[in-house]
Amino acid sequence: MLNIALDGPAGSGKSTVAKIIAQKLNILYLDTGAMYRACALKCYLSGVDVKDEKAVEEIMKNVDVRVEYKNGAQITLLDGKDVSTDIRKPEVSMLASAVSAHAVVREKMVELQRAVAKSMDCVLDGRDIGSVVLPNAKFKYFITADSKVRAERRYKELIERGTPVDFEKLHEEIIQRDYNDSHRKNSPLVQATDAKLIDTSSLSVDEVVETILNDVEK
Ligand code: DC
Repeated sequence: MLNIALDGPAGSGKSTVAKIIAQKLNILYLDTGAMYRACALKCYLSGVDVKDEKAVEEIMKNVDVRVEYKNGAQITLLDGKDVSTDIRKPEVSMLASAVSAHAVVREKMVELQRAVAKSMDCVLDGRDIGSVVLPNAKFKYFITADSKVRAERRYKELIERGTPVDFEKLHEEIIQRDYNDSHRKNSPLVQATDAKLIDTSSLSVDEVVETILNDVEK
């Protein structure tokens, strides 16, 4: 199977790039962050503190996270319900970062991700795809950008979607999330030793897509 792993911090542009690459190569795009976001939403709806490992463990016994595809776009289902919009709310981002630190959550999501990657050609974006989920993936990229540039991109995205946000708060949250995701014990955000680094701070989406496609098609 052709598996392309795109890892990197929040707002680095990896999901935009992953979607385009998947479209151009006519393969699947798997947004693994959406799966952790769905787990976070489950905790939120159940009144579970995402930092309470025991409570999260308990809730994860009965969580049903699935991804399906409608007109080429990923739909994320939580207990059978489409939560694709709800999981994008800024408050879910921080909860997802916290909940994804628990081993029990990661084990369950990684199993699902590996099953997808084994059964079809796909582009996966996340934090640990190249390092843990698919260490043998043929193509691995670590996509990053300056935190301010990343906050600006998220800001634009949320404003366009009609979600009012404070820029400084968003920037602080991105820095906090980078810290959480990179310092956790289980599968921290890290550049796999064999992943190619792409800093998108001053690159256009097209330039990043082109860099990756040139490499894959070589
Ligand atoms: O990519 P995203 O912003 O939608 O991800 C939300 C959170 O999920 C992120 O802060 C860390 C976590 N995550 C992870 O731990 N591993 C992944 N493969 C993808 C996301």
